[in-house]
Amino acid sequence: MKYYNNILETIGNTPLIKLNNIFKDFPCEVFAKVESFNPGNSVKDRMALKMIEDAEKSGLIKPGGTIVEGTSGNTGMGLALASIVKGYKLICVSNDKQSKEKLDVLRAMGAEVIVCPTDVPADDPKSYYSVSRKIAEETPNSWYVNQYDNPSNTKAHYENTGPEIWGQTEGKITHFVVGVGTGGTISGVGRFLKEKNKSVKIWGIDTYGSEARIQLNDKFGTIDEVGAFVLAERAAKREELQNVLTTALKVDSDTKMGIISDIKQELRKVNALKINYTTRVGDYTQNFN
Ligand SMILES: Cc1ncc(COP(=O)(O)O)c(C=O)c1O
Repeated sequence: MKYYNNILETIGNTPLIKLNNIFKDFPCEVFAKVESFNPGNSVKDRMALKMIEDAEKSGLIKPGGTIVEGTSGNTGMGLALASIVKGYKLICVSNDKQSKEKLDVLRAMGAEVIVCPTDVPADDPKSYYSVSRKIAEETPNSWYVNQYDNPSNTKAHYENTGPEIWGQTEGKITHFVVGVGTGGTISGVGRFLKEKNKSVKIWGIDTYGSEARIQLNDKFGTIDEVGAFVLAERAAKREELQNVLTTALKVDSDTKMGIISDIKQELRKVNALKINYTTRVGDYTQNFN
């Protein structure tokens, strides 16, 4: 019999899919590493599992314990899958910018979800940063994940995502373009690829207003959220990536596309590129619901 022992074993080894239409006039091959093939539908499954497993190894989380995290949803999904399999309780602290559907799915997966206001500074006691910390402090036998500062986040991508990409491209990758949230993916994959070939370019794309800046990357672009949707919508319609289409339909096409044309300019000069912007979609599209 060929089977997985549990859902967590299906995390990773996501497909690399050639984008045939969007880049057809370009003198290079462009591939999407479609992270929505993960069981929790995003790249975050990888780090969620790794953070929990490392916390188990170092004794930070004990059997029957409670996991607490501030999350807009995707890390929460990964944590929820692992919590079910491993028997932990999960408390997700989120904010009122997130769609009801996203939070409902987390609740359906057994998580307790607490919603905090977005229009307060991070150090306000009502902010979701402060609330998640406080809950972790006050809940017995609990562990605060803290994905932004947790080194296992980056490690998951250094140990898994990076080697997958290197193997799938047979070392031919020249550019890695990636959406940035915590910076775990860009740091882990970037470090791995640079160790293999220091001339591989690492490009991060972030939304306006974010402060992420990572040393490893060679180029950092900003994109507005709607711009990210447009890119996703194009991928969905023109490359038949249906799982992207379902979250990208509510796009206003009248949007800033500066960064995309910038990337296109750069693309014309290169031979190959990898994009994983589809992973970014889950995070942003649903805010428009
Ligand atoms: C679906 C999705 N893709 C990509 C990212 C960004 O990844 P990272 O946090 O590793 O920078 C996030 C989170 O911010 C996400 O939820």
